Amino acid sequence: MTSMKLQINSPIDNVLLGHAPVTSEADYHSAVQQACAAQLIWRMVPSPQRGHLVRDFGERLRAEKKRLGELVARETGKLLAEGEGEIQEIIDICEFAVGLSRQLCGSTMQSERPMHRMYEQWHPLGVIGVITAFNFPAAVWGWNAMLALVCGNSVVWKPSEMTPITALELHKIALEICLQHGHPDLCKLVVGHRDLGEKISADKRIALVSATGSTRMGLAVAGVVAKRLGKTLLELGGNNAIIILQDADLKLVIPATLFGAVGTAGQRCTSIRRILVQRNVLDEVTKKLVAAYEKVVVGNPLQAGTLMGPLINQAAVASYHSAIASAVAQGGTVLCGAAAVSGQPSDLYVRPTLIAAQRKMAIVAQETFAPIAYIIPFDSLAEAIEINNEVPQGLSSSIFTKNMQHVEDFLSARGSDCGIANVNIGTSGAEIGGAFGGEKETGGGREAGSDSWKQYMRRQTNTINWSNALPLSQGIKFDV
Ligand code: UN1
Repeated sequence: MTSMKLQINSPIDNVLLGHAPVTSEADYHSAVQQACAAQLIWRMVPSPQRGHLVRDFGERLRAEKKRLGELVARETGKLLAEGEGEIQEIIDICEFAVGLSRQLCGSTMQSERPMHRMYEQWHPLGVIGVITAFNFPAAVWGWNAMLALVCGNSVVWKPSEMTPITALELHKIALEICLQHGHPDLCKLVVGHRDLGEKISADKRIALVSATGSTRMGLAVAGVVAKRLGKTLLELGGNNAIIILQDADLKLVIPATLFGAVGTAGQRCTSIRRILVQRNVLDEVTKKLVAAYEKVVVGNPLQAGTLMGPLINQAAVASYHSAIASAVAQGGTVLCGAAAVSGQPSDLYVRPTLIAAQRKMAIVAQETFAPIAYIIPFDSLAEAIEINNEVPQGLSSSIFTKNMQHVEDFLSARGSDCGIANVNIGTSGAEIGGAFGGEKETGGGREAGSDSWKQYMRRQTNTINWSNALPLSQGIKFDV
């Protein structure tokens, strides 16, 4: 059988970045087998020691941040600063995970029986499958893998078939660090297409499947994993809105919207897709946004001064154009953008686009992974929150206002229904210290900070009788 290879060319200029061998059926099975075997040893290593391995990996990335950041930029087409930011996210999660390695704490409960002690402890789950998307080819694996490792698990990673080169590089470093610490590969890498994701989902040896990508992909993964009663951690589509109230500080609103909607060419799951503006400032905000958009330099993301690079591939460009066409057909008005950019070293460059829209347009409820944002007017905060919440996704949201009551209302139980709700900052660019994820069709998973680590462990409740008697709970008598 001839071995297949993925050929990866940079979306920036079509230059060949490398080849990634597609993992064969046999190699997949032995990779999972080896991950299982390695985990049996790793699970008994005290977690502060597991933290040392993660610490050393983070230090290597710190030393190689520039090189790896540039590779991320070349493979995805994002800006150099964004590529380096992605590596920084892994360094951050490594630091977080090292601290966590001494804090995988369980609770102690009061037993109803005399001289009994009750507590819970957290044990490793086993092998963690990580399926990642093209847009964050490094950081999302980092969030999952570094927590999984300190929690005593091994990892099998399937990166997007569009961005395996970054994965190969990260894996090479991770393997080196594992070997330095006297362990075999705890972070297996497997490369392939959708069928490989299905294999991971169906594989009973994989305790948790953490998947990032479209809602369609998440539904497929969830269905297959549920059939074997496995665990999932899903990070799926977003359709993130910012609410701009009349008293908002426009000096903050305009750059925040630009970063949120145009940053990473609108290819973050947290990108701003809907800009909700109170009607009496609609004209002013629209004018300022259009002026800012028109100044955006689209071009080579490796060059200083560029704010937006190319989309990832032709399919992304096609969905950019078809979303704009749908929006116009549904009554939207293009305010700026809606055009390909010619004269670039690849044909994947488009202008960031603003569309005047109405909340009930069907296209507005869909996530298009492109730099398109819909400006939607509203009259009251209650209406804005209703619009924020009426889409099927529930990842990120934000409000711009100086009014404390409006802030608290937006953050209250009747406010935003998203996993992330920000005030006076945009929807994207979350720090790793918080739990990252969202509700509804976003999938309900939480990655990175806070207590997300619990998803990578199993909880065990222990009751210890240190008396000489055997009292039963609930006062039951069961004597012969
Ligand atoms: C993603 O787009 O899948 O909050 C992740 C952010 C980044 C992570 C995005 N820290 O935008």
